[in-house]
Amino acid sequence: MENIQSLLEARVRAALDPECGVPVVVHPSADKRFGDYQTNVAMLLAKQQKASPRQVAEAILAKLEVVDCCLPAEIAGAGFINFRLRPEFLSRRVEALAGDERLGVAYPKHRRKVVVDFSSPNVAKPMHVGHIRSTILGDALARIASFLGHDVVRDNHIGDWGTQFGMLLVGWKRDMDAGALVADPLVEMERIYKLVSARCKEDPGTLEAARHELVRLQSGDEENLALWREMIRLSQSQFDHIYGRLGVRFDVCLGESFYNGRLKSVVQELRDRQIARESDGACCVFSTGEGAPEADPFLIRDKEGWRANPALVQKSDGAANYATTDLATLEYRMEEWAPDEIIYVTDGRQQLHFRQIFAIFSRWRPEDAARVRLAHVWFGSILGEDGKPFKTRSGDTVRLRDLLDEAEERALKVLEAKNPELGGEERREIARVIGIGAVKYADLLPNRQSDYVFSWDRMLSFQGNTAPYLQNAYVRIRSIFRKGGVEGGAPRAVQLQEEAELALAKRLAQFGEVLPQVMEDHRPNVLANYLYELANTFHAFYEACPVLKAEGDAKDTRLVLCEVSGRVLRLGLELLGIGVPERM
Ligand code: ARG
Repeated sequence: MENIQSLLEARVRAALDPECGVPVVVHPSADKRFGDYQTNVAMLLAKQQKASPRQVAEAILAKLEVVDCCLPAEIAGAGFINFRLRPEFLSRRVEALAGDERLGVAYPKHRRKVVVDFSSPNVAKPMHVGHIRSTILGDALARIASFLGHDVVRDNHIGDWGTQFGMLLVGWKRDMDAGALVADPLVEMERIYKLVSARCKEDPGTLEAARHELVRLQSGDEENLALWREMIRLSQSQFDHIYGRLGVRFDVCLGESFYNGRLKSVVQELRDRQIARESDGACCVFSTGEGAPEADPFLIRDKEGWRANPALVQKSDGAANYATTDLATLEYRMEEWAPDEIIYVTDGRQQLHFRQIFAIFSRWRPEDAARVRLAHVWFGSILGEDGKPFKTRSGDTVRLRDLLDEAEERALKVLEAKNPELGGEERREIARVIGIGAVKYADLLPNRQSDYVFSWDRMLSFQGNTAPYLQNAYVRIRSIFRKGGVEGGAPRAVQLQEEAELALAKRLAQFGEVLPQVMEDHRPNVLANYLYELANTFHAFYEACPVLKAEGDAKDTRLVLCEVSGRVLRLGLELLGIGVPERM
């Protein structure tokens, strides 16, 4: 089903000279006084033709055919064209939504292959709160892209290679507490890592030993390889446990080590094509000097002006690094999946890294680079209520597992107070859905590039823009059907009359407009905010219009509005990775 926005855009386009080249954008009006949808196309066209915008708008209206869906369009202000939808048109829309499994979300014209690189924790360290944003944002984007109809590959690019393994191997051989390893492998691995890394700072002997173990690992020593594999296995099983609790899955988990075999040839090719060159024994990529310095990731400005900020692709000891691995990964992904888009979800500190990688890639593989959209979807930090990085009371990083436990515990308390009738097992299950949902929603709601303050009380509140508020709106709708003993999903005729009914119908029809917008610049918060507006519009409708007490057509109409609202809320939350209970 084509959404109303696209429908109106097509109608406006049909009223224009096809050669005019002006982009046609119709968007929902921010203010009801300006109708339901608006376009500024007459103003753009007037500028091009050096004519009066209102006259241009008149000319468009003379050709515009929208009688089937809109009341006569109006010209307003400096030349806006305003559209007001006809109630009968909206009634048919709501009926169509009720009969549409996809709730009005059209399939895209071109199905795209999209790789989402997200979560990607480092091996041998417990997942902490810093990993939650990548996991939650990446999962939501992958869900939305696949629901839209794209072909999505979810790739967990775990950090399973690097210098840390030298220290881990020393610690594993000398300091391992086997009992502690069984009890909590990641905590024990982290302990030995910290121990050895502190010792390395004081004792050159330990540092030397760590180097030696690393070299043995890199040169394929069987014993070290086996230990390294064991570390990965233990880490992976703990990651999987967290992913299970979060309801997150991956199609592939190709960690950094997977690309080891390609690193040498990547560096060689970059050298051969004179993209990278020797610098102080290392191998680096420098600026080409083309283009504006502001946009050049290989330049940086300091007091004296612009200076070189090269990307290192091989260290002076001959070892490859994070950048080399990411280039090899890109090469592999292009060969294996030929994607149209690759989305990397990491924190904002990696912005320079990805700008450099993308720039090197377009010099190295220009044809591939022209075909694929590479997007670094970065995010800000989570802060404590004191405005400083979020930590435990004792100042440690917050373990993800503890955070999820606390979310469920707190949700349980809230639930006990709110609805004491809910019984043990059911209550636990609902608390899980609410607690995890609250954490996810609080993470998805802010503009992803800003930092946000982590607040249990706010995220678990049933008031305001929170997951429990949205889940509760869904539960309310379900209880209407239970109470009324009526079935959802039965075909019913819709005849919208009341203002509140019309407002809700318009909101519901926007669902199909919102999802593609999320993918435009990878902002799940657009969907979160839409769902909040929907819940508010639903509540206003529910206050103004009795449902079960209504009769005849009014009752049928309202039941359909309730049913579709419930389905949009449930699907919308599911696309954010958030579940809904039937009662709470
Ligand atoms: N392991 C990295 C980290 O924890 C994130 C990896 C992101 N993906 C990538 N292809 N570089 O920071």
